[in-house]
Amino acid sequence: MGYRQRRVGAANNGEAENATAPAVVEATDLSKRYGRGKGVKAALDGVSLTVAQGEFLAVLGPSGCGKSTLLGVLGCLDQSFEGQLALFGRNTRQMSDADQARLRGTRIGFVFQAFHLLGHLTALANILAPTLFISNRSGGAQHRWAERAEHLLSELGLAGRGGDLPEQMSGGERQRLAIARALLMEPELLLCDEPTGNLDAVTGQQIVDIFRRLHQDRELTIIAVTHEQPLAAAADRIVELRAGKSVTGADRSSHVGVV
Ligand SMILES: Nc1ncnc2c1ncn2[C@@H]1O[C@H](COP(=O)(O)OP(=O)(O)O)[C@@H](O)[C@H]1O
Ligand SMILES: [Mg+2]
Repeated sequence: MGYRQRRVGAANNGEAENATAPAVVEATDLSKRYGRGKGVKAALDGVSLTVAQGEFLAVLGPSGCGKSTLLGVLGCLDQSFEGQLALFGRNTRQMSDADQARLRGTRIGFVFQAFHLLGHLTALANILAPTLFISNRSGGAQHRWAERAEHLLSELGLAGRGGDLPEQMSGGERQRLAIARALLMEPELLLCDEPTGNLDAVTGQQIVDIFRRLHQDRELTIIAVTHEQPLAAAADRIVELRAGKSVTGADRSSHVGVV
């Protein structure tokens, strides 16, 4: 596997690792509205959710129920919401924009339905794209990232494909490349928005198997939103979302010892 997943509590701030690590995500009464006046639309309507470290959660629901909106809020991509959100034990409202960007860039990985690869860059350069936003770009750091990118390519079954452009790759290969990119900075939390939505059933299952392996081998916390059963079936727990409200499985606070 090449490296061990960094654990909550043993992050850069030097805190000791401990058995009662905070939940990775604690969301309380999240609401999000789009539009104004009569056109206002509640995309999220009071969602509470606790996700423990190392958990693989699927958020299942039909198109338009608020899944992407929820992921955007959980990933600090969208700050215009009501309610409270703590990530890795920190209240995001008390974090500066720079702190949130750092957290998003180093501790959270994103995987999207449409891959969002950069078409003019090779596979290897796509994996390395997250390093463009990092201030420490010393030669040593660049070298380590390049080595890691090569390692991820082979780990995801793309050895020897680093020079290919995304257009030379199949859908499944593109998504594996996107997963490699998401893993480059060794995130603790992977947020996946319909990651199998553009893939046929067989290819989609390969992606699901990769998530399961990442979850088991690296203790990666995964939140995947989907309307597809095979992905949901691979998760430890399913939360169902209907019209912006979670209808089952949302609260697991008793399991992780936090409110
Ligand atoms: N930028 C936006 N402006 C207005 N309405 C939006 C916007 N994004 C999403 N919505 C609406 O919010 C609801 C939830 O959307 P979304 O989170 O994308 O759902 P899902 O990912 O489950 O398909 C939908 O009714 C959608 O039309
Ligand atoms: Mg969506």
